[in-house]
Amino acid sequence: MASESSTRDAYTHGHHASVLRIHAWRTVENSAAYLAPHLQAGADILDVGSGPGTITLDLARRVRPGRVRGIDVSAEVVAQAEGLAESEGVRNVSFAVGDAYALDAPDDSYDVVHAHQVLQHLARPVDALREFRRVLKPGGLLAVRDVDYGGVIWSPSSAGLSRWLELYHEVHEWNGGDPHAGRHLKRWVREAGYGEVAASGTTWVFASALEREWWGGSWAERATESKFAAHAIESGHSNPAELRAISQAWLDWAADDDAWFLMPHGEIIARA
Ligand SMILES: C[S@@+](CC[C@H](N)C(=O)[O-])C[C@H]1O[C@@H](n2cnc3c(N)ncnc32)[C@H](O)[C@@H]1O
Repeated sequence: MASESSTRDAYTHGHHASVLRIHAWRTVENSAAYLAPHLQAGADILDVGSGPGTITLDLARRVRPGRVRGIDVSAEVVAQAEGLAESEGVRNVSFAVGDAYALDAPDDSYDVVHAHQVLQHLARPVDALREFRRVLKPGGLLAVRDVDYGGVIWSPSSAGLSRWLELYHEVHEWNGGDPHAGRHLKRWVREAGYGEVAASGTTWVFASALEREWWGGSWAERATESKFAAHAIESGHSNPAELRAISQAWLDWAADDDAWFLMPHGEIIARA
């Protein structure tokens, strides 16, 4: 990975337990509903940047006897996904370390390529999308979904969370990614040469006591632990005292019964 800020392309979140706890909640229902109607039994799927693998396993359950392969640049998270597949007894799934820019697969080999919350972390998303198209069968389906941090809103207003959002943008960009990926997906996919592009958008909302405890609690931890905190300090954008204040702001938000939080996502279905 390059070390310059503009091309770092180093995954912003890292794989700290607080990050994995957030990702473990993800399913096809809450994160890939736009793809669900297109899934057919027997389809072979490549899940790029599969992370802890919860969505990957869910995809595998839906396309049996089709095979699903999850690849991720992090060996640590690949091992975790393999453990999850083993413990959940999902047999038509496999995981491997791999790079979105250089997939270890022949041309025309998959019915579906899926990438959830991945393009936002890449310095060259269009190059990655071209590589996804290479491994898709002619007429195969691309499904990509990314958040857009430019549209994140919450209540009650909080100076701590406002600073968190500003810092999140700074750290994400320092890592070579684009925190506004959601709004750019359509353009990137068309630039990569796909036909039949269908664009939609959905949100995640965190409001119930359980959701607030989980989302706010996870961010309270991430603000001071995890790679996000390390990168915030290393990049010179923050310091331990400010990160502790942001962490407390998340705890305060989570403890407020009236609190509410929304994250918008762009999503694209396209044909190779
Ligand atoms: C936000 S996580 C999303 C994980 C999973 N798709 C989900 O939604 O639960 C992004 C993942 O992309 C992986 N990643 C980042 N850059 C990558 C690259 N160049 N090739 C493959 N995976 C990459 C990270 O290691 C991380 O696991």
